[in-house]
Amino acid sequence: MTPKERAAARENAVRAAMMLVRAIEVAQGVTRQSIADMRDVLIELAKRRDLFPLEDFPPPEATTERKNALYRLSEDADHRFALYAQLSMGGTNSPAHDHTTWAVIVGMEGKELNRLYDPADEGGVVEKDQFVVEAGTGLALMPDDLHSIHIDGSEPVLNFHMYGLALEQLEHRRYYKPETGEWKHFPASEGIRDLPIPA
Ligand SMILES: [Fe+2]
Repeated sequence: MTPKERAAARENAVRAAMMLVRAIEVAQGVTRQSIADMRDVLIELAKRRDLFPLEDFPPPEATTERKNALYRLSEDADHRFALYAQLSMGGTNSPAHDHTTWAVIVGMEGKELNRLYDPADEGGVVEKDQFVVEAGTGLALMPDDLHSIHIDGSEPVLNFHMYGLALEQLEHRRYYKPETGEWKHFPASEGIRDLPIPA
């Protein structure tokens, strides 16, 4: 397969997967079960590793401090059903945060530790579980669910991230800052890229 053929096959596979995801939402709404079903659609898509090789997802430029590159694979005209591929080339430790929309993370390459939290009575967070996202596994989060992401940086990590609404639209997310015991505003993401179009 040439890079151009691969890009076309990838678009078709993504389009088919997103049709299934939309159909699940139409039939079931947003419930723990429906987002688990959406996750399973992405686990199937992730099995097509021939369509998602690392070489098609360029790492962040050496001139930036960024260690992650987020590539948009699909997004509806009304910004719903946003699917991204995230490449992480270095260590990451995010604070605990929410998404204000449903979120699904599915692994393709490398390991990403997720810590899952409940809100604590004192106003902070209390860890309740851990889950490793890697090839063949995924995590589905409801809008108020809290998690943090931890990547050790020893190897590239490539994951799908899918959200009920595009990341640029999520203006009201929060993260918890344990140093000060405060919930802070998590700014909407920027710097999301489209995949380069192969010649
Ligand atoms: Fe998150």
